Amino acid sequence: MKEKTIEIPYIEYSSIEELSPRDKSLALDAIEAQKSSYAPYSKFNVGAAVLLENGTVVKGSNQENAATPSGLCAERTAMFSASANHPGVPMIAIAVAGGPDFSLCESPATPCGACRQVMAEYQKIGKKPMEVILCGSGKVLKFFNVEGVLPFIFDSI
Ligand code: THU
Repeated sequence: MKEKTIEIPYIEYSSIEELSPRDKSLALDAIEAQKSSYAPYSKFNVGAAVLLENGTVVKGSNQENAATPSGLCAERTAMFSASANHPGVPMIAIAVAGGPDFSLCESPATPCGACRQVMAEYQKIGKKPMEVILCGSGKVLKFFNVEGVLPFIFDSI
């Protein structure tokens, strides 16, 4: 028996202004994507922007439905759109921005478990680390790969 500890490296920035030009641009795309959120039930609006290896950015936002489970998070909307429209092109980063009533949470909204699992699969098939950038108004977190937000990733294949 051995007790073990996982360490997760990540960077905490105080605002998107501190990000690299590439990451800042992706963060702004996520904030822009938030505007298209359809969330009349939760009133929690989320935008996501996926950067593909070829430089293309694909945006998504959360889309809700009166039949609650029929809606989808911003991250999966963006990733599924990216995979459907640009099949096989690795996703190298995803930025997420969310908050109530189209605001930005001070401490960033973090992806749900299902979205993290979907990130894991696209990272795996893309064979490139997918960086995860979580944007809040008071801080911005950058993880270097999906393992940073999902340790012990389920992997059946
Ligand atoms: N949501 C996202 O789109 N992404 C997240 O990271 C967390 C939650 C959505 C789902 C639902 O439309 C609303 O936010 C409230 O949970």
